[in-house]
Amino acid sequence: MRKKVVAGNWKMNKTPKEAVALVELLKDKINRDDVDVVLCVPAIDITVVADAIKGTNIKLGAENLHYEDSGAYTGEISAPMLDEVGAGYVIIGHSERRDYFKERDDAVNKKILKAFEYNITPILCVGESLAEREDGITIEKIRMQVKKGIKNCTDEQAAKIVIAYEPIWAIGTGKHATNEQAQEVCSEIRKCVAEMYSDAVAQKTRILYGGSVNAANSAELFAMPDIDGGLVGGASLKEDFAVIVNSAV
Ligand code: 13P
Repeated sequence: MRKKVVAGNWKMNKTPKEAVALVELLKDKINRDDVDVVLCVPAIDITVVADAIKGTNIKLGAENLHYEDSGAYTGEISAPMLDEVGAGYVIIGHSERRDYFKERDDAVNKKILKAFEYNITPILCVGESLAEREDGITIEKIRMQVKKGIKNCTDEQAAKIVIAYEPIWAIGTGKHATNEQAQEVCSEIRKCVAEMYSDAVAQKTRILYGGSVNAANSAELFAMPDIDGGLVGGASLKEDFAVIVNSAV
């Protein structure tokens, strides 16, 4: 039985003060030891959120990292920096990073391997555009992103990685994938992991759905056989996130 993961992706929202206020609002309402609850927050919020979540079962995550340990990379954050402040998770290859910051699959793979080096669990994001879905190449796109993204992992790492299926057309649009659409792709992702590693590994890999998840649709999505929770954007910025976490069955 895979433990569910419900992760919030705050994106570029919440100043440090606002971040603390949100954690204060959420922490009494979230009380699920059987779910890995993760807040992936802007870099500047990480240390204050680390303090604010003490004594709760909420885990800390970042939204990105660089694949080098240190060096002349203005504006970047490294895995050892995240490790030192207690970030246990990091989102890698979000479609916004791929689209706006031109992140490619080879960099995504290097980031994943670097995160593992510091025992930070990567949450790899994959997803197709509306045009790709309409052209019937959703599965090809996803398989390519998974194959390039998680290559060269050990079996143990491939079992530990979290993969989030986030159709680009569903992100921030209020138009979520149907339960069946999301299940179909998440099941393909699991097959892909099984081909690359083994069925035993793929049975452990946690696969999430993300894209307009809200308090009204989360329970049904998370109940699909290959959907092990969600990566939540807009709805993670408010009290609804607690409802979404608590809806995970
Ligand atoms: P929304 O939940 O706002 O659609 O965002 C999804 C997302 O991109 C999470 O990473």
